[in-house]
Amino acid sequence: MTHATPAGRGISPLAFVDPTAELGEGCTVGHFAVVEAGARLGPGCAVEHHAVIHGGTQLGAGCRVEAHAVLGRRPRPAAASTVAVAADLPPLTVGDRTSVGAGAVIYAGATIGADCFIGDLAFVREEAVIGDRAVIGSHVTVENAVRIGPRTKVQTGAYITAWTTVEEDCFIAPCVVTTNDNFMGRTERRFALRGGPVVRRGARVGANVTLLPRVEVGAEAFVAAAAVVTRSVPPATLVMGMPARPVRPVPDEEMVVKEGREGEEGEKGSQGDVETKGS
Ligand SMILES: CC(C)(COP(=O)(O)OP(=O)(O)OC[C@H]1O[C@@H](n2cnc3c(N)ncnc32)[C@H](O)[C@@H]1OP(=O)(O)O)[C@@H](O)C(=O)NCCC(=O)NCCS
Repeated sequence: MTHATPAGRGISPLAFVDPTAELGEGCTVGHFAVVEAGARLGPGCAVEHHAVIHGGTQLGAGCRVEAHAVLGRRPRPAAASTVAVAADLPPLTVGDRTSVGAGAVIYAGATIGADCFIGDLAFVREEAVIGDRAVIGSHVTVENAVRIGPRTKVQTGAYITAWTTVEEDCFIAPCVVTTNDNFMGRTERRFALRGGPVVRRGARVGANVTLLPRVEVGAEAFVAAAAVVTRSVPPATLVMGMPARPVRPVPDEEMVVKEGREGEEGEKGSQGDVETKGS
């Protein structure tokens, strides 16, 4: 139960809010939640029980942070890690009205847009940039330096590897796996050749698909379930199988931007309703 402080904020007496943190009008903070030094919460944010908002994190207005979520966590490399961790990451910023699910962990240096939905137990690493209205489903992992475009939906359990780009209005189905290193950690050559896939505007990638390093999935393309994509996929083409091969064009009615209307704000096609189940 929270109570109103003299400033009119519903802060649990069992929460810790650093005196240098700034909370806008109408913010609430649940039991055992922690808001560290220099964090800024816009008006009307709700921080549920046991959530941790690390120092400097910036939340826009009306954000919701569910129980046990951790925002602004600093990366810590493993003793055996070969990847350097940036020392001075800027604070995590989260846009207005974004909702962060229970147990989700979002690192410092990530940028999350407005009206995003981050599901329960999702994991978003440093320097990831997520556009407005994107959905990151429950149990999704978004590694460092990933770009996710506005309105894109990444469904439950997908793994988005470091340096992947997924543009706007894409659909990444449950348990998609993306990869960035064909040498799996061996040889110096890997540093020159590693890189994540690029999924262009409006493309759809089916359940359990594997995208190999640096493949490009063209705009409005469709990758059938369980395909292994070893070569780039042409725009608006359905590919299938292992290795994935072109099968047919994507019908116009399934496209986000309809034929002949390229460059316009097209009629937004259905991205599927499945994000309601678990993400
Ligand atoms: C592409 C898709 C729509 C099926 O396409 P389709 O052409 O209508 O497929 P059909 O059922 O007519 O099957 C045509 C042939 O391809 C095969 N086939 C269908 N889907 C296949 C797939 N994903 N991989 C390999 N072969 C497949 C069929 O077995 C059939 O082969 P046959 O002619 O030898 O019997 C489907 O495979 C798919 O990927 N759906 C996406 C599901 C998904 O991931 N949704 C995510 C949100 S939950």
